[in-house]
Amino acid sequence: MPNKMSQEKEALLRALGAEVVRTPDDEPWDSARSHIGVAKRLRQEIRYGVILDQYGNVNNPLAHECTTGPEIIAAVVSTPSTPTKPSSLKVDVFVAGAGTGGTVTGVSRALKKEHNPECIVVGVDPIGSILALPERLNDESPKPYVVEGIGYDFVPQVLSRDPADIDHWVKTDDGDAFQAVQRLMKTEGLLVGGSSGSALSGALAWLKTERGQKVAQTEGLNVVILLADGIRNYMSKEWFLDFALGPGPPRIPQTTSDKGN
Ligand SMILES: Cc1ncc(COP(=O)(O)O)c(C=O)c1O
Repeated sequence: MPNKMSQEKEALLRALGAEVVRTPDDEPWDSARSHIGVAKRLRQEIRYGVILDQYGNVNNPLAHECTTGPEIIAAVVSTPSTPTKPSSLKVDVFVAGAGTGGTVTGVSRALKKEHNPECIVVGVDPIGSILALPERLNDESPKPYVVEGIGYDFVPQVLSRDPADIDHWVKTDDGDAFQAVQRLMKTEGLLVGGSSGSALSGALAWLKTERGQKVAQTEGLNVVILLADGIRNYMSKEWFLDFALGPGPPRIPQTTSDKGN
């Protein structure tokens, strides 16, 4: 299977001087040919080779606990409550996609520690990945999907699936995610990537659950949805070009006088 990582991400790394080695997406994480397997081999082969290890490095969730979380809290606390836009001045629900799980785990810790211990944290996991709980939400074996950055065929060490950190999980599919991206662009002017669409569609799906409906019906509660990256990482992707360019403008028939211009 080809590797789905966008060309834009490879180009950016190569422009910085990196050598990029692509690995097949359908290799199980523990195979020697997977991105993890190849990284381990290269660490041996390259003098002073080092793996920063986003999957196991405690500094991944810690960075989100110390920076992303406080940034979100500051934004919500400093946005005044008004009669037309009432606010609890708290983050009541936080929704984020999980890849390594560093973001959702770290931000959850920041939110629940002092800011709002009652905050509900919702993890978003694409159909085809196996991160969600309870296990019955997942397919029996991992399957391919197009959205980049979220979901895996193994549970990274830095992802805490403890219900004290992540209260609920929702599964999302590519179609809903890309529709949500389109909606964010057209209605909010937010030029976001595919996993942001997964986060929005996951949040909307969760708000329709029994617990979610109670939140949706309570005035002033704040639901924060993390939009992880921008569309510039995916401008050459078929899913983006399809909806951005569509079938194109209607063709104007050529008149005889136009010919030869
Ligand atoms: C586009 C995108 N969305 C979401 C995520 C998920 O973030 P995390 O790995 O912290 O779970 C990533 C991670 O790299 C990403 O690249």
